[in-house]
Amino acid sequence: MKMSIKNAEELTAKLGQVIYVAGSQWGDEGKGKLVDIMSQKYDIIARAAGGANAGHTICVNKDGKSEKFIFHLLPSGVLHSGKICVIGNGCVVHIPTMLEEIEELKAKGLDVVSQLLISDRAHIIFDYHIQIDGIQEERKGDKKVGTTKRGIGPAYTDKISRQGIRMADLLNFNVFAEKFRVNAEKKMKAFGFEMDIEKELAYYKEAAEKIRPLIVNTVEYLEKAYKEGKTILVEGAQGSHLDIDHGTYPYVTSSNTTSGGACTGLGVAPSKMTSVVGIAKAYTTRVGAGPFPTELSEELGNKLREAGAEYGATTGRPRRCGWFDAVVVRNAITVSGINSINVTKLDVLTGFETIKVGVGYQLNGKKITFVPAQLEDFEKVEVEYVDMPGWSEDISKAQTFEELPENAQKYILKLEEVLEVPINFIGVGMHRGEMIYR
Ligand code: GDP
Ligand code: IMO
Ligand code: MG
Repeated sequence: MKMSIKNAEELTAKLGQVIYVAGSQWGDEGKGKLVDIMSQKYDIIARAAGGANAGHTICVNKDGKSEKFIFHLLPSGVLHSGKICVIGNGCVVHIPTMLEEIEELKAKGLDVVSQLLISDRAHIIFDYHIQIDGIQEERKGDKKVGTTKRGIGPAYTDKISRQGIRMADLLNFNVFAEKFRVNAEKKMKAFGFEMDIEKELAYYKEAAEKIRPLIVNTVEYLEKAYKEGKTILVEGAQGSHLDIDHGTYPYVTSSNTTSGGACTGLGVAPSKMTSVVGIAKAYTTRVGAGPFPTELSEELGNKLREAGAEYGATTGRPRRCGWFDAVVVRNAITVSGINSINVTKLDVLTGFETIKVGVGYQLNGKKITFVPAQLEDFEKVEVEYVDMPGWSEDISKAQTFEELPENAQKYILKLEEVLEVPINFIGVGMHRGEMIYR
């Protein structure tokens, strides 16, 4: 589908009733910013996978001052009053973190509870999952994944091995308490740590009172809303190459971050999805371990990191930086069915004399078009680059494609040529208004 979009007003009509905003690299592409902008036009904003490992940053200009919000678990749409925000069945929820996020927003004058719905089928992350995450990483030594230590992997492990505890269990506290005791005992034995089970249960008894009204069958809710013609925006978390199936396994997260995961993680059927918008940074970053073929040398990498403020929104870790990798993004386009792209952070490349674009890989002297499954192969691929001339003008005030310097336009056209998907949005700054529509 060829699309041309001039402003946010045209978005809903062009993209359709149900859209997925997908990270196309290794996360932190700038999903939160586009979701925030598009939330103005969508009725429901939903998270379908992951947990508080996500960190979605939104910068809002208010009264001449820039205010920053970082969302870990709550959908970024909560900044817009009247929008319903759904935490889907595919998510894993650490209740204290969620309540903290709600409190932080309250302190900033936003009461978001009335906007929030949580799936009765979403799994709960407990503190023991967080502890196990840390222990497992430690045990891996130099093979650590570099997780966010939010308990994501251990919680999904319990889900898949059919011993997880779900939001629905909180609706009957006796059932919840029994399951919690059994699981907590098992974890303490298996991992050799102590915890005060009764203290935890007392916490959850109180927390359950607060969140019980938010726990619903979100599949039923979304189906009804869909039939009434409401529009739904699914906010991706992480990136395609952190997907448990399609990512650079084992250096991945534990959920499906691609569009299939958006469907199962919400119970919204694939046939209802009208568009998938892929978010691609104008270069590449990665936090955590794992191969990264276009990663830059220390000097250029540091320059990019400082220019782009590339430090993790969840863990504060410095992000590894590299050139744009079209093989990686094309893989995401294939797996998620991306039909529209938002290139973000083009402004960060201002001042680089030459900008490289990784357009292909060679493995053992042969051209390959996909990311190899064997890590040892991925580690040794040779990237074919094309060199693009840079620009030095400030582009943060540009509102149209034509206002960009010629070389910045050429850079975008090159990305579009190698990705074969229209680039409909170009981010030129961190604020809501700093977005070009084309
Ligand atoms: P997400 O996890 O995909 O939502 O992305 P993060 O919030 O982790 O990281 C993206 C960072 O880039 C955030 O600090 C955003 O404020 C910032 N950002 C997003 N788009 C742009 C852009 O076009 N230009 C600049 N300079 N910053 C941007
Ligand atoms: P957003 O939504 C970037 C990475 C971690 C680690 C791997 C596994 O902000 O784009 P986990 O804690 O999920 O078990 O860690 O995945 N990771 C992310 N990297 N952005 C994210 O989210 C990430 N969520 C997880 O750094 O390498
Ligand atoms: Mg992030």
